[in-house]
Amino acid sequence: MEITTAEFTLSAPNVSMCPNDDKPEYAFIGRSNVGKSSLINMICRNKKLAKTSATPGKTLLINHFIINREWYLVDLPGYGYAKRSKTEIKKLEQMIHGYILQREQLTNVFVLVDIRHEPQKIDLDFINWLGQSQIPFTIIFTKADKLSVSKAQANVAAYKRKLEETWEELPPIFVTSSESRQGRDEILNYIDSINKSMIG
Ligand code: GTP
Ligand code: MG
Repeated sequence: MEITTAEFTLSAPNVSMCPNDDKPEYAFIGRSNVGKSSLINMICRNKKLAKTSATPGKTLLINHFIINREWYLVDLPGYGYAKRSKTEIKKLEQMIHGYILQREQLTNVFVLVDIRHEPQKIDLDFINWLGQSQIPFTIIFTKADKLSVSKAQANVAAYKRKLEETWEELPPIFVTSSESRQGRDEILNYIDSINKSMIG
């Protein structure tokens, strides 16, 4: 699949303000600064589509982008940013959880994980919560350009071992870089196959 159009639709503060449309949606979630917005821009080949920042906590709303006028990519705020007030953490958590649990159009959640780090409790907790909530999800490792190929492979293998402690079956896993565009075709093919399976 190739992307012919990628347009910003709207930013919503909660699930009830999201677009009134029944097209399939693919959402990106993960720690603040993991590279959610950058990955959406990389996939769409448009550096200005989603707002990115070197400082964590940039995305604060549910942002919808319509692709090929057929399906949506959804950029969510990150979790786990230490410099937030308790009230702000609570508000964002409600926004993210409300969207994920209530949005019927949500077809798959991509959980982004920085490939450089060992498995972090906050991500594992979030992944477990998705599983328990029966939300279909996929894991995307980001920033692969920051490691050697062998170190990246070793970290992915270690992450899989950690997940296998809890899960019998592992979700699909993609390794990406928004700098080198690694993983772009794999993600687009994956989305395309799901879209096609829903029509057929
Ligand atoms: P929040 O919206 O704050 O939750 O962050 P985010 O997950 O959307 O991260 P964002 O895309 O804004 O990127 C954060 C920083 O990481 C920026 O400085 C990006 O340039 C950088 N970055 C993102 N992806 C990559 C990548 O694949 N490789 C490298 N080297 N840097 C990346
Ligand atoms: Mg962002």
